Amino acid sequence: MANLRELCLMDFDEFNENRVEKGLAVFMVNRVLEDGHLKHTTPMKEILLAPQKLSCPFALSPATSGLGAATALALSKHGFYVVLAGRSRHLLLKTMSEIKMQNEKALLKAFQVDLLSIQSILDFKNSLQLWLQDSKMHPSVQLLINNAGILATSSRFTLEGYDQMMATNYIGPFFLTQMLLPLLKNSPFPSRIVNVSSFTHRCVFDVQVDEDTVCGNCFRVLDQYPCSSIYEYSKLCLLLFSYELHRKLSLENGSHKLTVIVADPGVVKTNIMREVPTYLARVAFTILRLLRLLQLPKDGVNSILDAALASPETSGVYFFGGKGRMVKSSARSYNTKLAEELWETSSNLFLKSQIAIGGETSS
Ligand SMILES: NC(=O)c1ccc[n+]([C@@H]2O[C@H](COP(=O)([O-])OP(=O)(O)OC[C@H]3O[C@@H](n4cnc5c(N)ncnc54)[C@H](OP(=O)(O)O)[C@@H]3O)[C@@H](O)[C@H]2O)c1
Repeated sequence: MANLRELCLMDFDEFNENRVEKGLAVFMVNRVLEDGHLKHTTPMKEILLAPQKLSCPFALSPATSGLGAATALALSKHGFYVVLAGRSRHLLLKTMSEIKMQNEKALLKAFQVDLLSIQSILDFKNSLQLWLQDSKMHPSVQLLINNAGILATSSRFTLEGYDQMMATNYIGPFFLTQMLLPLLKNSPFPSRIVNVSSFTHRCVFDVQVDEDTVCGNCFRVLDQYPCSSIYEYSKLCLLLFSYELHRKLSLENGSHKLTVIVADPGVVKTNIMREVPTYLARVAFTILRLLRLLQLPKDGVNSILDAALASPETSGVYFFGGKGRMVKSSARSYNTKLAEELWETSSNLFLKSQIAIGGETSS
């Protein structure tokens, strides 16, 4: 991977300054405060009049494709400073270019991050902080959207020994959230975490949240990689984590200064099936289209926007399918004992990973 700091401070700044119409991808969206004042387009009056709008630093996790890119575009149109994050510099540039083509006033910044690596997540957090500091912006993030997700069809493990699908869909977002919590809590405006889950979490019936299962080690012994089951399980973990974090934050700050919401887009035609054989993906999309269930990213993004822009006190809820619709997630996802156990397992993994790379262990 290229040097993060170089990319952040040179290439992307250069990109922003020169307005080169070549793209990027989205990770974080910040409406930024500079010296205590809003830096750009949306006047404070509008924010005061429309309290449902979040108003400063805002982060959108991987947005080089599908729903992430669509969310980034939509939020840039809402006047947010959008920070894009993704694995590929090329895709980041491409996405940024596409956003700029549709919204030339978009304020964008991009960072490379690979959720499969705790070192990369830590580098990202440090680069983000440095950027905020160098740009004389308020050292905070208003909104983090954990959007990354894969549907892996084969068993692969990260260097730290985690199943890659679990690492991308759950462990990485957990680590990233933990690392960004101080910045989110530092926001002078109500801040929010939006975790993008899936209705498929309802298919999970037997749930273990011990280390072996969360890391995906227990799947190593199976003859066939249970790809759908792991995807569904990872999305349930994200829900359990979201509700547990919501409960913890509610105890910490009764006023819900930092809130947590889950968004479920429904069925959307994106690259999520990239590992599935092309003919199978085509058949699936055709059937879903005939059933009128298939949405394009520009529509599928609505539940994520509903969650991002919901009133500041909204927390611990599940937005599904757009139009502001909130529904209940599965009964299992509200199991507080399970959520506490998962929290403990995930926190232990986080601590071990931090120690392994010699990073900070404060959170
Ligand atoms: N599409 C649906 O029907 C649907 C339904 C319910 C929920 N969802 C959820 O929606 C979210 C977005 O998915 P999508 O449908 O938009 O799929 P997508 O087009 O495949 O986008 C997935 C994004 O995740 C990023 N990503 C994957 N692995 C990563 C890693 N290790 N580090 C950083 N970024 C990584 C990808 O980046 P690269 O471009 O670098 O690969 C891409 O930007 C996922 O969480 C998915 O589970 C989708």
